[in-house]
This record gives sequence, structure tokens and C-alpha cells, in this order.
Amino acid sequence: MEFKFSDYLLAKQSVDDRALNKDVLSILQTYFDMAGPSLSIIEAGGGIGTMLARLLRWNMLPPHVGYTLVDSMPENIAYAKTWLPQWAASAGLQTETTPANELRLFDAKHEVYLRLICADIFDFIARRPPQADLLIAHAFLDLLPLPNGLPDLLSLSHRMAWLTLNFDGVTILEPILNPLTDEYIIRLYHRSMYERPGGGDIQSGRHLFSYLLESDASILAAGASDWVVYPRNGKYQPEEYYFLHCILHFIEESLSGNRRLDPQAFKDWLTVRRSQIERGKLTYIAHQMDFLVIV
Ligand SMILES: C[S@@+](CC[C@H](N)C(=O)[O-])C[C@H]1O[C@@H](n2cnc3c(N)ncnc32)[C@H](O)[C@@H]1O
Repeated sequence: MEFKFSDYLLAKQSVDDRALNKDVLSILQTYFDMAGPSLSIIEAGGGIGTMLARLLRWNMLPPHVGYTLVDSMPENIAYAKTWLPQWAASAGLQTETTPANELRLFDAKHEVYLRLICADIFDFIARRPPQADLLIAHAFLDLLPLPNGLPDLLSLSHRMAWLTLNFDGVTILEPILNPLTDEYIIRLYHRSMYERPGGGDIQSGRHLFSYLLESDASILAAGASDWVVYPRNGKYQPEEYYFLHCILHFIEESLSGNRRLDPQAFKDWLTVRRSQIERGKLTYIAHQMDFLVIV
């Protein structure tokens, strides 16, 4: 199966929809409701823009929103520029575009001025952009060198930050094939996350409780936001079928050539796990945490 990162980001939307902690979300909604008619948002590591689509789809935003999406992958920014207007049209919104990676999405009730910025988030912060009312970092913080990068990141907002889907070091694949092999492969996979070039904290979920306090942020709400993907009537939704294959692709990509693994045993393990997806037998759980904080 061909792997494309933008397709992975599209595919995980429904898994993320279910995962987002609804207690945290309801307090965020209260904040939106009290914020008045306009709000500025910066999203760090925003990918192709699915969070903005979600907030519009869930009708959460105030009437006027300035939304700045920053992502370091040029492919994501290019994809967002074509995908978001298509998505907006399907949702009954109109779009105006400018050559400078700016979009205006609007209908009778909403108006979102979107700026798409291709940059490393720390380069963006170094330019001292105007602080936003809300910082969003979704499925992003666990990729950063924590806790060092956190105060700089939080400085993007002067009020609130909604920090979601922070991985917390637990991956579950059911049913178990062989307890020792399963545990060993998952342990090596987690270790490979620590070894990513930009840093990364695979227990960012639990560590953020203290990291946030050390960064002078106060936690307004926190809760689990686990990914839970399981077959229904022996099948997955097409995008969740693809999502599961992406997870196995990430495990394969991270561990191929790892000297601590027997290549044939790893190949066999992947083959069986993939066949479980085909047969509608695999359940996948990843433990993650959401936070809403005052900065
Ligand atoms: C797991 S993806 C999540 C994307 C998006 N938030 C979503 O959930 O659909 C992480 C994103 O962070 C971006 N990214 C990683 N490191 C970054 C950095 N240092 N600065 C800006 N973006 C970064 C990647 O390009 C990727 O799009």
C-alpha cells in the first residue's frame, strides 16, 4: 500500500474526532463562547489544516477568526492550500484565495482569515509574531524537545493553549501474537521516537503536568485522548483501515535495519499484523493526553 503523509493526516480525522477529550473540549467551548465575536488562533504543526476544518465542522468558533497555521513541511502547506477550499465548499463555505498563502473562508455566519506559513516553529517564534488568543498544538508536542521548547511555544499565546493528543508511551495491539515479541517490538518502536532528529518525548502526556507548571502555565483541564481503533462488524471505515496500515508503516520504517531485531522475525510479525487488518481482527490503542492551559 502506498504511503502519503497527507493521506495519513486526512485518514486520522475520525480517529482524532473520537479521541479528543470532551471534558477539555467543553471548557474550550466555554472559552470560545466568552471570547466575544473575534478570536486569533495560532496552530503549531498544523499539518494540512484538519483542526481548522474540525472546529468549523463542530461549529465551535466565534464569527470572526484569524487563524495562522504553521508547519515545517512545504508539502503540507501546499496540500492545505488546495484541500481546505475543497473541504470548505463541501461544508457550504466560500473561499477567497490570495497568492500569498492566505485564504478567507466564509459563509453568512463565519469568517476565517487563514494564513498558511511554512516554517520551523522555533524560527517562526524567533520572528516575534503577534501573540494569539489561543495556541493549538495537536499531535505535535511529543515531537519537540521538551521541556526546553515549551516556554517559547507557549509565548505564542497571551491567554490560552489547547495542547492535544500528546503521546504518553503506551501502544497496544490486540490480540497479542507473542507477549515477548510484541512487547520487545513496541519497546524498540518507542525508543526510536526518542532518537528522532528534532528530539521527542514519548511520555509527553504525563510529563506535561509538571512541564506546564514549570513553564508558569496553569492547567484548566486535562484528560486522556486515546486513539482507539477497532473493527465494527469485522470491518473498519476505509480511512481507518488506511490509518491502521499507516501505523504499521511507521513501525516498519522506524525499525527496519535495527540491529536489535531479527529481520525475518520482524517481517513475519508485520505480515501477521497486516493480515489482522485485512481480516478485521486488529485493535489499536495509543494512550494520549489533552490539556487546556492558561499561559
Ligand atoms: C503528527 S503531525 C500532526 C499534524 C496535524 N496537527 C494533525 O494532527 O493533522 C505533526 C506535524 O508537525 C509538523 N512539524 C514537525 N516538526 C515541526 C517544527 N519543528 N516546526 C513546525 N512544524 C513541525 C510536521 O510537518 C507535521 O505536519
